[in-house]
Amino acid sequence: MPIYPPAEDSYLMSRILKEQIPHLIKQNPDARFLEIGAGSGIHLQTALSLGIKNENIFSSDIDKRAVSHCNMLGFRCIHSDLFDAFKGGGSVGGTLVPLKYDIVIFNPPYLPSDSREPKSSKIATTAGKKGNEIILRFLQQAKSHLNKNGKIFLITSSLSEDVDFSSLGYLAKEIGCEKLFFERLCIWELKKDL
Ligand SMILES: C[S@@+](CC[C@H](N)C(=O)[O-])C[C@H]1O[C@@H](n2cnc3c(N)ncnc32)[C@H](O)[C@@H]1O
Repeated sequence: MPIYPPAEDSYLMSRILKEQIPHLIKQNPDARFLEIGAGSGIHLQTALSLGIKNENIFSSDIDKRAVSHCNMLGFRCIHSDLFDAFKGGGSVGGTLVPLKYDIVIFNPPYLPSDSREPKSSKIATTAGKKGNEIILRFLQQAKSHLNKNGKIFLITSSLSEDVDFSSLGYLAKEIGCEKLFFERLCIWELKKDL
């Protein structure tokens, strides 16, 4: 399987970024943006086109091919399992990465395991038995990487088990959904419940 090609979930995220980022930049022209799981880099390009400064755009992927691809597009992208490489901030393989961000986005692997799915595409799509395992890990780590008024934009699917955002310490608002043939995708805006 190639680097995850933009699909319905990617386009839903693009739409939401186009609605949200202009307001966020008005409030903070120096907003720092991080995408976990950047894949093809579609959202890095959107963030740049919406006015986030290139020096404030950071990204990562667990797939080294996606990391090289996003670097080739001119973005800072590091190889990391979720926030592992961001833990102390500082230099990661020669790239300086901050510890905290104003906007963090993630279109995660959210499908429950299915033995029919080829191993090669699982890394981008499948999270585990319940489908929400990577999201839960992401949310446990993300709080330490959000600035005080920072926001997360995260995709979930009706095919995976629900996530109890408040028990994980987040205020959550559903800000856009899309009904596909056999699933419903939603984007959540999450803030730390201080
Ligand atoms: C559904 S794709 C989304 C790609 C792109 N952001 C988009 O919206 O089109 C999920 C991406 O997350 C990456 N990924 C999967 N598990 C990850 C992890 N534990 N840490 C970082 N990235 C991960 C995959 O390699 C893939 O590029």
